[in-house]
Amino acid sequence: MKKHPLARLDQRHLWHPFTQMRDWLKGEPLVIERGKGALLWDARGREYIDANSSIWTNLHGHNHPSINAAIRTQLTKVAHTSALGLANEPAAQLGQALVKLANPRTGLAKRQPRLAKVFYSDDGSTAVEVALKLAYEFARRTGRARKPRFLSLDGAYHGDTVGAVSAGHIDLFHKAYSGMLFKTDKVMSPYCYRCPFNKAKPERGDARDSRNCQFECIDKVEQRFASRKQRGSNYAAMLLEPGLQGPAGMIAQPEGWLRRVAEIARGHGAQLIADEVMTGLGRAANRFFASHDEGVQPDYLCLAKGLTGGYLPMAATLTTQEVFDAFLGDYAEFKTFFHGHSYTGNQLGSAASLASIGLLKTAAPHRKKLAANLRAEARRLWCLPQVGDIRQAGCVLAVELVRDWRTREPFALAEQAGIRVCDGLAKRGVLTRPVGNVIVVMPPFCTTQRQVKKIFAALHDAIDETLTQNR
Ligand SMILES: Cc1ncc(COP(=O)(O)O)c(C=O)c1O
Repeated sequence: MKKHPLARLDQRHLWHPFTQMRDWLKGEPLVIERGKGALLWDARGREYIDANSSIWTNLHGHNHPSINAAIRTQLTKVAHTSALGLANEPAAQLGQALVKLANPRTGLAKRQPRLAKVFYSDDGSTAVEVALKLAYEFARRTGRARKPRFLSLDGAYHGDTVGAVSAGHIDLFHKAYSGMLFKTDKVMSPYCYRCPFNKAKPERGDARDSRNCQFECIDKVEQRFASRKQRGSNYAAMLLEPGLQGPAGMIAQPEGWLRRVAEIARGHGAQLIADEVMTGLGRAANRFFASHDEGVQPDYLCLAKGLTGGYLPMAATLTTQEVFDAFLGDYAEFKTFFHGHSYTGNQLGSAASLASIGLLKTAAPHRKKLAANLRAEARRLWCLPQVGDIRQAGCVLAVELVRDWRTREPFALAEQAGIRVCDGLAKRGVLTRPVGNVIVVMPPFCTTQRQVKKIFAALHDAIDETLTQNR
C-alpha cells in the first residue's frame, strides 16, 4: 500500500521528539485525524483507544464539549496577550481556582505551607525550571545557602530544559549533556520491585504489597541529608514526583514513604518541590494531588500536562507567600524574578484549564470507576510469565515486562521489548508508549469498562505474541 500523503509529508519535513528517526522513516507513521472521548481515529479511518492520554496530558477525553466551548468563547474575545505588563481575565480566574484546589481544608499534616501564588509557564520542563530557580534564589536571599544545591531521586526525569535535566538522573537521556549541566545529588527511589533491601521473593502481585524491608530507602534519604550537613551545608530543596515516579518507570511509592521523606527534608531546613506534572490534577492520586494523599504540601507545586485537560501547552508553578515576598523590593534592588515566556498566562490555555478544573470537581466517580476497572482487568495479565510487576496509583497502571517473573531478569533496552509490545497493541487498536520495559496504561477518566477490557485483552495478546510465542 502506498504511504498516506500526510505520512509522507511528515517524514519529509519533521523531526520527532525522543524518536530514532531512522526507524520512523522506515514505516508509515499513524496520522491522527480526530478524537472523541477516549478514542482517536487516524487518517485511514482506523479507530484506537488512547491508552496513554496522548503522553499523559488528556484528562477528560478528546473533543470535550465543555472545554471546546470554553476555548470557543475565549476565541471570540482574544486569543493571547502578554503577561509582561498586562493582566487578563481567564489567567487571573485560573490563579484563584488553582490556589483553591491546591489548599484543601482537611487532610494535610500539621504545619504544612499554604500555596498562595501562581507563576505560569508553558510545559512541564519550564514549570520545574521555575521552581528550581525560585528555590535557588530563595535559599540565597534568606541566607540558607550561598551555593544552593538540590537533591532528587535516582532515575528521575523532570523535563528537558537545562535545570530540569540537571536534576534528572536518566543516563540515556541526560549523559550527553553533562557538560552543560550543574551538579545535583541523587538518592535511591523506593522501587520496591527492584529494591536491593526488599527480601520478599517475586510474587504475582504489586511488589509493594509483599515488601519485606525496614524502609531502608528512607534511611538513605536521612543519610544523604546528614552527610550534606556534615560538610557544613544543606540542600536548598528536594525535588521529587510524589506518589509515582513516572518517566523513571512508573515507580509507585509505598504508603508512608513521601510523608516521612518530606519530614526529613524539612527537618533539615530544605524546601520541597513537588513535580506533579504527571501525577497531579487527579491522575495518580485519590485526591487532586498525589502530595496530598500523604498529607504533604510542598513549597513548590509544578503542574502542566493535564492542566488544560490536554488541550494546550500551559504550566503553573505554585508557591508560598514567603517565597513571593523574597522577591519584593524597590525596583533598583533588582529582586525581580527575571524569568518568563512569551505565552505566559495565555488566555486560551487559561480558559481551557478553568473548564478542565470545573470538570475535575465532578470527576471523582469516573476516576474511581476507572481505577477499579484498571485494577480488575489487569489481573488477567498475571498468567503471562513476562509480566513481573503490576503497579497502580490512581488512574495510572504500569506493567513491568521481564524475561521471567521468577527471576525478575530485565530485557536489555536494545531488545525494545516495550516498544515491540506497544507496536502489537497499536495493531490491535490501542495506543500507548512504553517507558523502557514498562507498559503504561493511563487512559482518560471517561474511558469505559468495555474500553478498559479491550485495552487489557489487547495487552495480553500483544505480550503473548511478542514475548512468549517468539521466545
Ligand atoms: C514528571 C514529569 N516532569 C516533567 C516533565 C516534562 O514535561 P514537558 O514534556 O511538558 O516539558 C514530564 C514529561 O513527561 C514528566 O513526566
